Amino acid sequence: MGIVNQDNITDVVINSLGKHGTITDREREIATSLIKHLHGFIKDVKLQHSEFLAACDYLARAGKLCNDNRQEFILLGDILGVEVLVDMMTNPIEGGESESTVLGPFYRENPPVLPKGGSTIQKHYDNEETAYFEGYIKDENGNGIAGVTLDVWEDAPNGIYENLDPDQPEYNLRGRFETDENGHYAFVAVRPVPYPIPDDETAGELLRFMGHHPNRPGHMHFIISKDGYRPLISQIYDADSAWLEEDSVFAVKESLIGKFKPAPEGLGTDLHFEFDFVLKTEAAVQAVAAE
Ligand code: BEZ
Ligand code: FE
Repeated sequence: MGIVNQDNITDVVINSLGKHGTITDREREIATSLIKHLHGFIKDVKLQHSEFLAACDYLARAGKLCNDNRQEFILLGDILGVEVLVDMMTNPIEGGESESTVLGPFYRENPPVLPKGGSTIQKHYDNEETAYFEGYIKDENGNGIAGVTLDVWEDAPNGIYENLDPDQPEYNLRGRFETDENGHYAFVAVRPVPYPIPDDETAGELLRFMGHHPNRPGHMHFIISKDGYRPLISQIYDADSAWLEEDSVFAVKESLIGKFKPAPEGLGTDLHFEFDFVLKTEAAVQAVAAE
């Protein structure tokens, strides 16, 4: 029955699913919920046709902004807290493993491979504070894991990532490190400073629509991986940073906050940051999924 009125429209659309082509159970589940929530939202706010057209125009403009350097829909998802929620659904924390958080748009593949204790700093700034980052990558039993790869990246002391700043050398403040036989990692970088996410164009329009700001607290990004373990995409946060409790992309987790301390004599940096991570084995991930 395809004749609609305001009361039956949601059921009519849902009942049409799969009528003229095969769809999977997952597609049906997603489409049913999407239609229910979308129709519910439209009825809730009594969406007007002019507002619907404005939304279509907004999405069209967002789409035109997407290229190799800017993925506007991820950014919009971040501003709405969507990416962090999807990440929490995808990577639930069941044991003592470290929490993940959003990847963000500024990761670059194949960063420079550096020795343990090496430095990612290629350009110096007057306001920089150098820091020695170190810790252990452990399994859920507390044993250090050897040969784990860590990709790290952060913004420069001017608040800009290297790939968006023509005045920084290629791959500045990016590096790939490996844990030693005890699972220990170490590298030199700078204390990350707060910075604004892109707040021009449609991302800026959404921030202003929400009455929000674009700023993120100082953080260091990590991708930690080794065969046999669930890859961990995460960030560590400076406990003393501005915006820690008001992150524009809602990605800060309590367990990811750490403290920069004055470096002990002989370390060669201004500050010292110690942080351990715990990886979950793929076998443990699959066992939970099978439950
Ligand atoms: C970042 O941390 O690099 C980031 C995350 C989400 C949106 C924009 C930037
Ligand atoms: Fe970032």
